Amino acid sequence: MLRFFFRLRLDLGTMSTQKPRILTGDTPTGQLHLGHWVGSLENRVALQDEYECFFLIANMHAFTTRADKPEEIRRSTIDIVKDWIACGMDPERSTFVLQTEIPGIAELTWYLAMLLPFNRVMRNPTLKTELETKGLGDNYSFGFPMYTVGQCADILLFRPELVPVGEDQLAHIEPCREVARRFNQMYCGVNPHTEDEDYVKEGGLFPIPAGKVGRVARLVGTDGVNKMSKSLNNTILLTDTFKKIKKKMGGLYTGRTAMDEPGDIKNALFDYVRAFISDEDRVKALEEAYSKGDNIGDGHIKVEIAEHIDKLLEPMRERRLPFEGEAGDAKILEILREHTKRANNAAEETLYLAKEAMQLDFGKRNLSFD
Ligand code: TRP
Repeated sequence: MLRFFFRLRLDLGTMSTQKPRILTGDTPTGQLHLGHWVGSLENRVALQDEYECFFLIANMHAFTTRADKPEEIRRSTIDIVKDWIACGMDPERSTFVLQTEIPGIAELTWYLAMLLPFNRVMRNPTLKTELETKGLGDNYSFGFPMYTVGQCADILLFRPELVPVGEDQLAHIEPCREVARRFNQMYCGVNPHTEDEDYVKEGGLFPIPAGKVGRVARLVGTDGVNKMSKSLNNTILLTDTFKKIKKKMGGLYTGRTAMDEPGDIKNALFDYVRAFISDEDRVKALEEAYSKGDNIGDGHIKVEIAEHIDKLLEPMRERRLPFEGEAGDAKILEILREHTKRANNAAEETLYLAKEAMQLDFGKRNLSFD
């Protein structure tokens, strides 16, 4: 009955505006940088009109490795929303999902945990890398690997078609796709031979979501060697000034020793040229001159790149202005409160349908949030 009601509401209420959905998000662990921009943020901004977007702040996941730092996590939670708005993720068009205020996520995590073999969870390469890079050894919490199941619930609760993420997150999308298929087969009677795109048509609750990696899957950091990442201190932050950008670019290792020497356009410098100079003719001209050793210095190119990055960040600085300081924090919290209501509406609808499919429909509940 309720299922019928929801379908009807969807059909009548949003007939002309119903769009496919996106869900993606970030763990609040620090400020966002250019690697995030080219890997995922840029896609999110661009897809906001075509898709109904849900952007998740994974603040519960932040506790999996920093349970002793609630204050830092709260600060980061607010700052990440400021970064988002600065980027052009638009609170008018899109919904920001504050993970800890969406009880349906924790509930669905439990049900999905029953559909994922323990060994499958532990085999996740991203999880393994994290255990190493974060030096977690054998002492990690039970909640740490649990977050990979939680991430499936984050996604599926919003029934998105698309999940735009950085390359490192693809390993999390795969178990999500597996668990969605399994749920649809086990509880909605979908034939296991069904093609991924047809699961909903065949009666499944969850679309099988596709990951989508950004234009530059792996942006090298300003050390010129490793992937840009906060823990390696090789980032250009979205809040950096022109002066800072120039200084950081200046330190980029290129491996070249003299400017009349043919340069290697596969070096880090040219990764930046291609990532941040949008004029293709200019990129080609630089590549030609550099590979010939045509008296074009690294320093010169670095400044040119810094100027392009600055131009990219300029409108971000503008959009951030109304959210500076404590008054800005208050505005962010207000947005999050409003959006929590919206997010819970969507989440509760899916959760009800999931529980109904599992024969757990014992009554309809109403969540209220002030
Ligand atoms: N694990 C992601 C990160 O650290 C954040 C995240 C949590 C996420 N849940 C998600 C991303 C669901 C995409 C979809 O960046």
